[in-house]
Amino acid sequence: TDATARLDPHHDIADIDRRLFGGFVEHLGRHIYDGIFEPGHPAADDEGFRTDVVELVKELGVSTIRYPGGNFVSGYRWEDGVGPKDERPRRLDLAWHSTETNEVGLHEFQAWLDRVGSDLMLAVNLGTRGTQEALDLLEYANVDTPTTWTDQRAANGRETPFGVKMWCLGNEMDGPWQVGHRGADDYGKLAMRTAKAMRMVDPGVELVVCGSSGRGMPTFGSWERQVLEHTFDDVDFISCHSYYQEHDGNAQEFLASGVDMARFIESVVAIADTVAATKKSDKRIMISFDEWNVWYLHDDQGGQNDKPEEKGWPVAPRLLEDQYNALDAVVFGDLLITLLQHADRVRSASLAQLVNVIAPIMTEPGGPAWRQTTFFPFSITSRLAHGRAVRVPVSSGSFVSAKLGDVATLNAVATVDDEGVSLFVVNRSTTDAATLRVDLAPLVRELDREVSVAEAHLLHDDDLYAANTLADQTRVGVRGADATVDGDLLTVELPAVSWAAIRLA
Ligand code: AHR
Repeated sequence: TDATARLDPHHDIADIDRRLFGGFVEHLGRHIYDGIFEPGHPAADDEGFRTDVVELVKELGVSTIRYPGGNFVSGYRWEDGVGPKDERPRRLDLAWHSTETNEVGLHEFQAWLDRVGSDLMLAVNLGTRGTQEALDLLEYANVDTPTTWTDQRAANGRETPFGVKMWCLGNEMDGPWQVGHRGADDYGKLAMRTAKAMRMVDPGVELVVCGSSGRGMPTFGSWERQVLEHTFDDVDFISCHSYYQEHDGNAQEFLASGVDMARFIESVVAIADTVAATKKSDKRIMISFDEWNVWYLHDDQGGQNDKPEEKGWPVAPRLLEDQYNALDAVVFGDLLITLLQHADRVRSASLAQLVNVIAPIMTEPGGPAWRQTTFFPFSITSRLAHGRAVRVPVSSGSFVSAKLGDVATLNAVATVDDEGVSLFVVNRSTTDAATLRVDLAPLVRELDREVSVAEAHLLHDDDLYAANTLADQTRVGVRGADATVDGDLLTVELPAVSWAAIRLA
């Protein structure tokens, strides 16, 4: 089928906040232990971090990294993870039915972040703990005056503060599975008190209050409204979390996931702005989409879901080790397009997660590390999307999603920076290839010169379910896209179920 679009560099959405390309590392399964940290591995450095994993994380291009959870944080005592290693306690982790050895804590994680070149985003425990413990951690991490906590930090090897900017006020407190789960009113008041007190310690922090764990939560909407009624003046962001998967082999429905994400974002923006209106405030609460990915969470496909409680209390068990296929990667690319399309209000996002646990990077203990299919759309988008996000309306066909109604077959966004323009586009059709013709006239006029294709990447596999595995680590990758510029016209060929990134310079 034929599709047309127009790329006008003045159709701005917003400047892109680099924090849109964040990640998330939780003490969960083999993420830390036997993932990023494996002393004894041939590629481990003197502190036990796998250098092959560090290189892959750098290639992925992750800005901020949210830590240490997730569900894990709601039972975590941060003090367990600092101080002499041989004195650190072993604890039960109720969230993932595991044993936490605390070999890695705040200092070690910061040391790893220094290697990968990413910034720390911390979550405080508002499940089993409260305001005081959040203040203790903030003082330990960010304060520059000698106190008992900051003296301990120095004694533990860190004279200068960590200077952590972004802080999450708990995790998924709306979820009945969460240790210390609370109702919206209860949580809203606790988050408000904690936020006010944290700002007394460090007025420079940016605070994220928990939104819903998903648009499908029974409390979705009323949760956001009630929580923001309490916290509106004291926080900067509200979180969104969302995971997508193919159900019952219905690839077409799965390919509509980007539209679901867009509706989620737009609903939360509407609620946040309604609260602003009732408060007669011009303040705009931004979204931290701090958990997003494909995750085979529901067991209707015969089983990538895990039941940790059936495994006892192991250290670093294999949990949530989803294997991603070509179809997953195309949907994933569309989720990135959707985040960029909402760059005016989504000012931070975290791919959940990074290594081994629903991750773009996999490792084997003592063995190799490799890229899953989802690695490619992330690394390419993070590398090419700079400057401003720009709307690219596409005229294409549509299909009917049982859940979402009419869904456009093609979806695109562009970014414009000083050196050039990047176009990201997905073909969501399971049956039809598309020829996309993009009118570049407004761009060529603005630049006052012709443009040409500098890079063109295509993610597509005739076998939608092809994946990269330990046995075949490079089965799926990206190849050159068929993209040409002729004068004012860019033509891109998009096979059914494909994602492409084109760089014009
Ligand atoms: O990312 C895996 C889990 O998903 C996180 O721990 C939790 O916050 C969410 O439910």
